[in-house]
Amino acid sequence: MSGQGRFISFEGIDGAGKSTHVEALADRLRSAGHNVVLTREPGGTPLAEKIRALALHEPMDALTEALLMFAARRDHLQQVIEPALARGDTVLCDRFTDATFAYQGGGRGFDWSTLSELERMVQRIPAKIEGGSDSIRQPDLTLWFDLDPDIAAQRLSGARLPDRFESQPVAFFEAVRAGYARRLAESPDRFVRIDAAQQREQVWQAVEQSARGRGWL
Ligand code: TYD
Repeated sequence: MSGQGRFISFEGIDGAGKSTHVEALADRLRSAGHNVVLTREPGGTPLAEKIRALALHEPMDALTEALLMFAARRDHLQQVIEPALARGDTVLCDRFTDATFAYQGGGRGFDWSTLSELERMVQRIPAKIEGGSDSIRQPDLTLWFDLDPDIAAQRLSGARLPDRFESQPVAFFEAVRAGYARRLAESPDRFVRIDAAQQREQVWQAVEQSARGRGWL
């Protein structure tokens, strides 16, 4: 970690129900005295929001899709996330790089090691002192709202017009879920897996507990 701030990301398949909890945790952290920056990916800057509109609605191949996600992320990191962390703020991000591994890697079947290469390039933090080593920006905590894709599909049915991801079949979300599980296995200390099939109140308890457990509440 280079800044003194904290960086929390929220992940899960479409329909897992993370968004209300992102806002609730932002409120809870604010009342505990944190300066909170609430943001999302793809998006979070004027340029990245334009990229989001393209990535969610225009047909494209898997490499183009992955590159757009990382291009949006690069701008978001430079314009918003890194400055906020340097100020000591708490950044809450609705999806971050794990979503690219889960959706483009797991869901679309795009090469995992290429994604890792792009991740290193895009999230690199140059060493502060000469001769020091560079590091890679990652969230300090990632809350994975894990839900059976069949249940998520039921929750999503009847919702607004689906985008290019929401309109995918259940098998796609099984693969996305497997992508998240693989990311958790690669960085178990960073992740908290939350059973999103529970009642909303129980899910919230788990969210709050994860922040309290790190001494942030
Ligand atoms: P989402 O975060 O679910 O927003 P909303 O609740 O407004 O629909 O939508 C973003 C979509 O983009 C979601 O389906 C996952 C997808 N996505 C990727 O495929 N790769 C990524 O790297 C990111 C950040 C998102």
